[in-house]
Amino acid sequence: MDSMEINKGMAAVLVAGIVFFLTGLIGVHLVTEERPAKVAIAIQGAPAAEPAAAAAKPEELPPIAPLLAKADVATGESTVKKLCSSCHTFTEGGKAGVGPNLYGVVGGPHAHMEGFNYSAGMKAKTGNWTFDELNAWLKKPSAYVKGTRMAFAGINNDQQRADVIAYLRSLSANPVPLP
Ligand code: HEC
Repeated sequence: MDSMEINKGMAAVLVAGIVFFLTGLIGVHLVTEERPAKVAIAIQGAPAAEPAAAAAKPEELPPIAPLLAKADVATGESTVKKLCSSCHTFTEGGKAGVGPNLYGVVGGPHAHMEGFNYSAGMKAKTGNWTFDELNAWLKKPSAYVKGTRMAFAGINNDQQRADVIAYLRSLSANPVPLP
């Protein structure tokens, strides 16, 4: 085989490579991989997508007023010592831990402690902490504030939650009147 033949062979391989490469480039531009926003053909009997709102709907809680009326502050305090004191302090002017100091939180604004690094979701909450809101918060913090920094699952027992809220209410020179 003379060298001309070898050159021709190599040229053929090169050209094939270039053509292959260019076809790929053009192909990528011709065919887009984006999914359409709307399904073009709805398949009968296929389960409809869950509406996001329904999934995020918070559970109905029993009214807090009757539970607070029979709540026990001392029981609440001992529950708080067990469940919350690893992250929170409760005395007036107490330092922040993992969580903010909680003195005067009942009736105070959301994100009530000056200078504490709250989550964006908590900072976005307007208005003051009512008994109902504390009830919902302590039932399931992650449901009440999306992306909350409070890594705490929640208190499931309704009366136990009311006891805790009654104790939090007592952490004030002028406790908010009971509902
Ligand atoms: C693992 C640490 C941790 C535990 C345990 C914890 N918390 Fe928190 N708590 C936090 C953090 C962090 C925040 C701030 C949340 C945010 O910014 O989203 C917070 C916020 C709060 C707030 C809102 C304060 C404000 O200024 O608006 C209340 C009320 C609260 N916690 C009560 C409790 C109670 C009551 C318990 C016990 C039943 C408890 N927490 C257990 C870390 C904790």
